[in-house]
Amino acid sequence: MPERYAKITGWGKYVPKRILSNADLEKMVETSDEWIVSRTGIKERRIRSDDENASDLSVNSARKALDMAGVKPEELDLIIVACSSPDYLVPGVATIVQDKLGAKCGAFQLTSGCSGWVYALVVASQFIQAGTLNNILVVGTDVVSFGVDYEDRNTCVLFGDGSASVVLQPSAEPAGVLTYELGSDGSGAKSLYVPGAGSVMPIGRYAQKIVDERLGYLRMDGPEVFKFATRTLSSSMKRVMDKAGLLPEDIQLFIPHQANLRIIESAARMMRQPMEKFMVNLQKYGNTSAASVPLALVEALEEGRCKPGDKVVMCAFGAGLTWASAVVMLGAGEVSLGQSWFNMGRMAKRAVGAVQGAMNNVMLTLQFRKYDAARKKKAAK
Ligand code: COA
Repeated sequence: MPERYAKITGWGKYVPKRILSNADLEKMVETSDEWIVSRTGIKERRIRSDDENASDLSVNSARKALDMAGVKPEELDLIIVACSSPDYLVPGVATIVQDKLGAKCGAFQLTSGCSGWVYALVVASQFIQAGTLNNILVVGTDVVSFGVDYEDRNTCVLFGDGSASVVLQPSAEPAGVLTYELGSDGSGAKSLYVPGAGSVMPIGRYAQKIVDERLGYLRMDGPEVFKFATRTLSSSMKRVMDKAGLLPEDIQLFIPHQANLRIIESAARMMRQPMEKFMVNLQKYGNTSAASVPLALVEALEEGRCKPGDKVVMCAFGAGLTWASAVVMLGAGEVSLGQSWFNMGRMAKRAVGAVQGAMNNVMLTLQFRKYDAARKKKAAK
């Protein structure tokens, strides 16, 4: 059987019209534009209107992706919607999207926090590569604002709402996901979670407690997530490039999860790559969870930051704790995976890079220990 690849043939995005700026947040909680920009890089985010739910945002971005790919909804073989803020707890939002689009195929929701869309892209690619399905819609949507406590300055400044979609179709030429890594560390589940409304605390029985103690909102251990994110972003991107036999120099654009500019800058430093090679649009949208990476991908394509034939590396991380990375070839082209392993010059460069990476990790660990010790000392006072 000839080799099949899952090529991205259409893409589209949708963000709500309403803008919530740092100046707006200054009126809601004790914060400042200076604090938010210096700690995160975020200037504003989009917030849904009351009648806009995850399915609406999804349909809006999906229609654009389908139009671009020239695929009618009824021609779809599968819809995957990565989402952690669905219209209802049950059913998953994907069936609602399927119905609103007028598609006739199977549809499922994939909930993996901010990593969800990269997970979904990898899952969808497997069906196409196996030759079992042809046209798959992969949507990343979150209306994080519904689960954010706008009295909690630790979280409310970080998140926003958005959606972005791609269509995957078979290609005989190398295209789409070339290598990937899916990761999970559930020991960190409570670093970023909503305590109320699941089966641990059924809303029907504990409604009053959930409201009184604000347990229906997102809770986050910021420093813990920050440490996890800085560790994961550069190391996971390096591993997927290694699997593909590629060096950072072979990559046209890095598309990281848009959680915090400092996390992205730290990855760029550790990978010894210039910030210009990292797509950043978090200043406009904040962290849009599952929509974050596809939204950055779509804007990078729209702005000409990357183009068909380019190889990009995506990496998302978030609640779970989870992470997902992929080397993706946009459009179709030629790759010879693993060939560069035999290139001695590159191997030498790789060895130097590995030593530099290890040294960076040691420095970072020492920095975190110092930071933790200072925090503990402060807490003990
Ligand atoms: N405005 C002003 N002050 C704020 C604030 C805000 N919006 N949010 C928190 N603070 C305060 C805290 O209450 C704390 O005050 P204290 O020292 O009096 O207790 C102080 O700022 C913490 O400051 P600092 O430790 O310097 O913040 P930080 O550098 O750890 O940055 C985050 C905080 C949240 C930006 C950072 O931890 C982070 O980005 N974490 C990862 C979050 C993330 O990416 N989550 C999603 C992953 S998918």
